[in-house]
Amino acid sequence: MLAKVHACALVGLDGYIVDVEVDFNPRAGIPSFTIVGLPDNAVKESRERVRASVKNSGLQFPNKGYVVNLSPADLPKHSTAYDLAIGVGVLAATDQIPLNALSRTLFIGELSLDGRVRHVKGVMPLVYAAYREGFRQVYVSAEDAPQAGLVSGIEIIPVETLGLLVEHLYGLNPIPAYASEPILVGSAAYDGVVDFADIKGQEQAKRALEIAAGGNHNTLMSGPPGTGKTLLARALPGILPMPTLEEALEITRIYSVADLLKNDHPLVQTRPFRAPHHTISMAGLIGGGSIPRPGEVTLAHRGVLFLDECTEHSPKTLEVLRQPIEDKIVTISRAKGSLTFPANFLLVMAQNPCPCGYYGDPVKACTCTPNMIARYQSRLSGPLLDRIDIYVDVPRVEYDKLMGDRQGESSASVRERVEAARDRQRRRFGDTPGLFANSDMRVGEIQKFCVLTPEARQLLELSVRRTQLSARAYHRVLKLSRTIADLSDSEHIEVQHVAEAIQYRPQRAAS
Ligand SMILES: Nc1ncnc2c1ncn2[C@@H]1O[C@H](COP(=O)(O)OP(=O)(O)O)[C@@H](O)[C@H]1O
Ligand SMILES: [Mg+2]
Repeated sequence: MLAKVHACALVGLDGYIVDVEVDFNPRAGIPSFTIVGLPDNAVKESRERVRASVKNSGLQFPNKGYVVNLSPADLPKHSTAYDLAIGVGVLAATDQIPLNALSRTLFIGELSLDGRVRHVKGVMPLVYAAYREGFRQVYVSAEDAPQAGLVSGIEIIPVETLGLLVEHLYGLNPIPAYASEPILVGSAAYDGVVDFADIKGQEQAKRALEIAAGGNHNTLMSGPPGTGKTLLARALPGILPMPTLEEALEITRIYSVADLLKNDHPLVQTRPFRAPHHTISMAGLIGGGSIPRPGEVTLAHRGVLFLDECTEHSPKTLEVLRQPIEDKIVTISRAKGSLTFPANFLLVMAQNPCPCGYYGDPVKACTCTPNMIARYQSRLSGPLLDRIDIYVDVPRVEYDKLMGDRQGESSASVRERVEAARDRQRRRFGDTPGLFANSDMRVGEIQKFCVLTPEARQLLELSVRRTQLSARAYHRVLKLSRTIADLSDSEHIEVQHVAEAIQYRPQRAAS
């Protein structure tokens, strides 16, 4: 008999429906169990898991000819997530499951040898694909039900074991559908995040990070060792605005595919903060591999990518960042076409000013030759530096300030301003696709939204003439001014906003 069941393939961050056809031939002479349709080893091994789990669930597994076809046949199948659909197909083909229970229904899960249904990665996009394609219900492992429940408009049935599933499909022991909890955003936790109040001095760097968070502006911190650059970056998550529901779902989808979600709280409530080490591989950073996985730039989507000691990263690594920084997506070429992942992150980099670290320090003398300094500074290429909105020095903190008990402003209080500024941006941009923060503005939008007062215009003009800003740098100053104005709740960009924005241009000629 022939049975047809539905499963789902994960390609990048998207799910594609796969038909699983199981043909059972009781007259076949030799026992066989063949899977066709570009299965990889994980899928081929499904045979052993299905066979054992069917038997160990007390069900019949006639040892005859099975042919399983996974279609579309030209789409490579990689995951163990087809186990459940193949198992259900085998049971339906051998008359142990009513065929009518399988229409518009999707099965996702790995089988263990004793018949339990196990977690697989990427459940959320798989369930979303089922919803998009008009499926009625999805069967997933009980463990994956909360994640599947993030997709509304489709029934989720949590399955513990294959045996319980069969009883359910016969209506003997119905499994109640998973009752999704209402999706709420806004309960971000900040445990373990450094508070701005605990960082002494460094007022300018803190202000720069506030602006960075306020409009998602790429930032480079430069200063001698031990002045708090790493500390400041680690405090950044505490002042980032809460993700909107749309953003939270986007982040969650990526983390579902990377298999980094918590089972009990599947929705990611905080913006990611990724700090890859400089020894990271290219595939680790931008994504890739034979089954393309999202890299750090995608895991940092809607959050922060922090490159500490950025000059230690190889020039090649830094160069590949150019595309995601500019396009906010990353394209991974594969043998069969290419794949894109989202990669809209806030880039924060920290560096020492020279190899010994003390160039420009008023206390400790720099021991580097001018040549060494020049070579060191050229490790960050012009095109990369041109994509930085904020350059800020993080100098040595005076002893009195460091030892004093004067508390700075808390992260929570800075975050309020950041949230208010982001609210202004959301209201301004409405539903314009691709526009989440000021740094996302393109030329037309800059013209439309960055309205300067006459004095502000005059100052900017003067500065452009004096420092010979490139067109790109000019637009960066405008966007930055827009954020500074938003942080002070000002509709127009005034002279003090432009004056502050200009301060964050690099001292050396990068633009
Ligand atoms: N401004 C500061 N306020 C409080 N502690 C600081 C400050 N700067 C540095 N420190 C202390 O020094 C340590 C090293 O700072 P770090 O951020 O690693 O410096 P950098 O990255 O600039 O080399 C921190 O963990 C912290 O204990
Ligand atoms: Mg450091």
